[in-house]
Amino acid sequence: MGRRDLTPESIVRLEADAVVVLDQRRLPDEEVELRCASAAEVADAIRALAIRGAPAIGVAAAYGLALAAQQGKDLDAAYDMLASSRPTAVNLRWALDEVRDDPTPARARGLHEVEVERCRSMGQNAVALLAERAAQAAPLHVLTHCNTGALATGGYGSALGAIRTAWEAGLVGHVWVGETRPLLQGARLTAWELEALGIPFSVIVDGAAGSLMAAGDVDAVLTGADRIATNGDVANKVGTYGLAVAAARHEIPFHVVAPTSTLDPSASTGGHIPIEERDPAEISTRFPAHNPAFDVTPADLVSTIVTEEGVHRAPYESSLPSPVRVVS
Ligand code: MRU
Repeated sequence: MGRRDLTPESIVRLEADAVVVLDQRRLPDEEVELRCASAAEVADAIRALAIRGAPAIGVAAAYGLALAAQQGKDLDAAYDMLASSRPTAVNLRWALDEVRDDPTPARARGLHEVEVERCRSMGQNAVALLAERAAQAAPLHVLTHCNTGALATGGYGSALGAIRTAWEAGLVGHVWVGETRPLLQGARLTAWELEALGIPFSVIVDGAAGSLMAAGDVDAVLTGADRIATNGDVANKVGTYGLAVAAARHEIPFHVVAPTSTLDPSASTGGHIPIEERDPAEISTRFPAHNPAFDVTPADLVSTIVTEEGVHRAPYESSLPSPVRVVS
């Protein structure tokens, strides 16, 4: 498989006896598939970040439940195991709930297709938004964090998909890619995707973002989200909050691009969003370490939230849609 073949099926798919994922831990050096022969193995793959990114883990979990159904397994146990594999991205539970009453391969594949279509719609919505900014400063230099591309969404991408659509429209000239400590989703995965797409980019250390903004080298920041509260507070990969603070200081638009499957109607503020604590060994095996994997950016630092339904602005309580069901 070559990088140019990053199709939805190459990222995650359901086969007769397994859920197969492109193992994101091995990228960019090796393109290796991981076969998960049970829902438990899918949950392990999600926990270990073999597959990661909020929409992508939702799709993988839906396939995991469909696999459990094919194998005649206890579906409630499979649901609980998959739902608890990672705590912050609400897409995981949303996707499981979408397929729970009918966990057939067709239903899970339909959910995967819809999530990828949503990415393309978000891209179109973001282009209209970025065109306003590009009227002042084209082509734009945009900064992004973590990986929100095809790998993170099961195909195409949310924030990175929007950057891709905007680049194709001639609006983007350069992408600053934050490394994203500690697991380097930016330096390993976003860089790999942008290189394959031929989009000009530079990897920066996370700490360089503020001074680039101060120097006038950043026209907009685009990130994804793992869960969005009804007031517009956004949980995303740790480091996002600091970027939003710096962007506000320099009056740089800060856009969050995420499908409605990332909206959590049961969280009224970011304070209700569980933040995953990961193994300190991901940071240091020699010294004590503290490893929160996500942070919450308050809504007042978010210029817009772009979903497949449109571009939403404060007050988010009234502007955000409800999560859109795959089967209504
Ligand atoms: O820990 P990860 O790599 O799963 O974290 C992913 C992120 O924080 C992404 O920015 C988020 O899921 C949005 S992906 C479209």
